[in-house]
Amino acid sequence: MSQTALITGASTGIGYELAKCCAADGMDLILVARNQKRLEEVAAELQAAHQIKAEVIAADLSQPKAAADIFKKLGADRAVDILINNAGFGTSGKFAELPLQGEIDMIEVNVTSLVRLSHLLLPGMLARKSGRIMNVASTAAFQPGPLMANYYASKAYVLSFSEALYEEVRKDGVSVTAFCPGATETPFFDRAKMDNVRLRNGSVMAADKAARIGYRGMLRGKVIVIPGLLNRMLAFSVRITPRAIIRKITGFLNDQPG
Ligand SMILES: NC(=O)c1ccc[n+]([C@@H]2O[C@H](COP(=O)([O-])OP(=O)(O)OC[C@H]3O[C@@H](n4cnc5c(N)ncnc54)[C@H](OP(=O)(O)O)[C@@H]3O)[C@@H](O)[C@H]2O)c1
Repeated sequence: MSQTALITGASTGIGYELAKCCAADGMDLILVARNQKRLEEVAAELQAAHQIKAEVIAADLSQPKAAADIFKKLGADRAVDILINNAGFGTSGKFAELPLQGEIDMIEVNVTSLVRLSHLLLPGMLARKSGRIMNVASTAAFQPGPLMANYYASKAYVLSFSEALYEEVRKDGVSVTAFCPGATETPFFDRAKMDNVRLRNGSVMAADKAARIGYRGMLRGKVIVIPGLLNRMLAFSVRITPRAIIRKITGFLNDQPG
């Protein structure tokens, strides 16, 4: 019987590319995001290309009841073999000047909905002694990020939570992977109003390449996957560099030149 993968944020960017990876391996899909029309296009494309079943659940994960609603729609007997918590967004600017509701919504999407979906779907995986959870963090998880303070903190949570969960369930047939891409070419930067920041003008990986590396790492049951040598070196360098210097460099990269 084919496996089923539930992917949040599957309408664009990394989530869309991860959905393609799963479909190419013959997995049935449950695609979640807000944009129902776009999700239906993705479902139709992947069903036609790979002879799989793809279901669409339109949901706004900033709403606290969204995860429970998704779980209810799945039905009690529905097994989700792979949960990919990918939906997320960033805001940029000085924290005090950003609207509070946007910051709360970001924690809800990037962190709380991921915790809720993991808590709802993990028991089934443990009962079946098989399953995989991939939580999309970021290289932002490894250090504080001035001018994106709340976003970086949300990703640090995802990394810490995923690593801890990995240890809790690794002997029970379930793997948990924190996928930590660096800058990746997706609508993310435009949505975060980061048109001209230095970070974006550096090395940016194609979304399909990043997703393929993350997907392979997840299937191998790796706990942390960082795509790209430069990103791995940056993640390592923060361990041996004084925090004060790291904070300054990250704030510089998150700012616009001039
Ligand atoms: N691009 C990068 O440089 C980069 C680097 C590291 C990590 N990441 C992480 O990678 C993940 C995917 O981002 P991306 O780069 O692929 O950006 P993206 O193309 O903007 O994708 C974000 C996805 O999340 C969904 N989403 C956003 N808000 C949502 C909400 N309230 N409810 C449900 N779904 C929501 C979006 O769909 P709808 O708008 O249709 O809801 C979309 O499918 C995020 O967690 C991001 O933090 C990105």
